[in-house]
Amino acid sequence: MKAKEIRGKYLRFFESKGHTIISSASIMPENDPSTLFTGSGMQPMVPYLLGEEHPAGTRLTDSQKSFRAGDIEDIGDNRHTTFFEMLGNWSLGDYFKKEQIKWMFEFLTEELKLDPKRIYVSVFRGDKKIDISRDDEAVGFWQEQFKNVGIDAQTVDNAEKKGMQEGRIFYYDEKENWWSRSGTPDNMPVGEPGGPDSEMFWDFGADLKIHENSPYRNQPCHPACDCGRFLEIGNNVFMEYIKTESGFQPLEKKNIDFGGGLERLAAAVLDNPDVFMGDLFEEIRLKLEELSGKKYNESDEVTNSFRIVMDHLRGATFIIGDNKGVVPSNTDQGYIVRRLIRRAVRYGKQLGIEKNNWTKEIAEVVINKYKDIYSELEENKSFILEQLDKEENQFSKTLEKGLRELEKGTDPFVLFTTYGFPIEMTQELAEEKGIKINIKDFEKKMKEHQELSRTASAGKFKGGLADHSEETTRLHTAAHLLLAALRKVLGNDVQQKGSNITAERLRFDFSYDEKMTDEQKLEVENLVNEAIQKDIRIICEEVPLSEAKEAGAVGAFESKYGERVKVYKIADEEKTFSYEICGGPHTERTGELGQFKITKEESSSAGVRRIKATLGIRIG
Ligand code: SER
Repeated sequence: MKAKEIRGKYLRFFESKGHTIISSASIMPENDPSTLFTGSGMQPMVPYLLGEEHPAGTRLTDSQKSFRAGDIEDIGDNRHTTFFEMLGNWSLGDYFKKEQIKWMFEFLTEELKLDPKRIYVSVFRGDKKIDISRDDEAVGFWQEQFKNVGIDAQTVDNAEKKGMQEGRIFYYDEKENWWSRSGTPDNMPVGEPGGPDSEMFWDFGADLKIHENSPYRNQPCHPACDCGRFLEIGNNVFMEYIKTESGFQPLEKKNIDFGGGLERLAAAVLDNPDVFMGDLFEEIRLKLEELSGKKYNESDEVTNSFRIVMDHLRGATFIIGDNKGVVPSNTDQGYIVRRLIRRAVRYGKQLGIEKNNWTKEIAEVVINKYKDIYSELEENKSFILEQLDKEENQFSKTLEKGLRELEKGTDPFVLFTTYGFPIEMTQELAEEKGIKINIKDFEKKMKEHQELSRTASAGKFKGGLADHSEETTRLHTAAHLLLAALRKVLGNDVQQKGSNITAERLRFDFSYDEKMTDEQKLEVENLVNEAIQKDIRIICEEVPLSEAKEAGAVGAFESKYGERVKVYKIADEEKTFSYEICGGPHTERTGELGQFKITKEESSSAGVRRIKATLGIRIG
């Protein structure tokens, strides 16, 4: 069974259980300054998990493009990838544990035909500190499912010390069996939703001796052991609490948040613990074998390099190719793309690739593989290839020289500024070569260049809640008006390339080749302010994607399952100011926005301009 079939089966299965299929949100989070990328299916769903009504109903399912920047340096084992597709289903105050566990079991064992004897599950052990008890309810539902197929599912505790103990259902603490965007109950900021969860694991089998051959061989093996014998294939989150000043309180409505990595489900179906051996990577692997003249499995070192190159270039392709895609740069998401490409180039060199302009050849294979589901990759193809080429060329020129400089003990700051070595790469290289580098000194120098705060991206996620404060909502609505105005003034080729909103200002990237003239800027401001002055009511409609597209809505048109989308319309009898597919939230009326002003217009990268804008006091 190919991954495409698994994805399709999953969505259709939950559709048959009354779920509406919704499209993947952008990989760039919207209105969520707490994080650089969408790292799980639940992230774009937070407002709805907190109680906002979703236009598509209370049962939803999707395949969400996800990216975890924190994992970049860890790529190389058999199951981690920075980019992945997360299959998800949601109950927004609708069904709960019983249905979720029943359906999940049915999906795994009947649709995917996974052998139930090789499925293990975990549940929350309970925690007195936060006054949340052991999840015996989930245990009961799992036992019922296993019993139906003739398996007596015993619960066991303390597996970390005592191992399998012939158990089927394992109790773990909040580090394993609690989910919120920001981690454990202690780390969650007030206002954040979360809850205990129940994970499912696929057992590749004790006979493979994976555990015995791993660094964990001196500890007992159990489902959450990191040796790789067990693979987590999905997580059922029972999202029923909200953190408050005085501890956890039940949310008004109990939710289900299920997420399962497509690559991992495919590995279980294939019964191969190496996700990179799945068909999603097949053509990429073959292309890399052709380019490098090496075989994926020829040695551990080669396999490691293959995984890094395959993972990083797939991730970079998706990030650049997103409809809100970003290009390599020294800040924020752009810096992550830069690191991905440069690290891939370095490992490509190690694999013996001598030719230039090869990264785009891999990207072409990635685009071909995914374009049926994520059509934006095909639409943005020339842009993706161009950007990869540019970044690869720029870095290839300095890589070897930089490596020699590093051996001589050159300052990491110079390596960064002169040779384009991201500091994480310098650290990695220094470690490999046993060279000591002074990070403190680097940080100080970077701070002087006022860049560091922006590059501390991996840690940014800890920032907590999405900021849905009034200010950001107003700026978000302004972003819609801005895009529409830019398209009127500069032409319909203008596409949004990214946005970032803080409480103070809107930053907006869009495709356009030239510097805007003062007249054009003024015209854009006037158009936006005209809509604001008219104090128009903003209408949100929920329509099939095809209908939105036909009616000329702008926004990300992604995936192909006939899903319904939310469209925000800003129009009066005379004119349509904006019509855009978007997840919200928005203000009720344009009059809430205040005077719109462009404070800066500059180049962001080749073919992309950047506008910074603010809203003044209310004029409506
Ligand atoms: N939010 C959970 C996760 O990402 C399940 O979707 O694991």
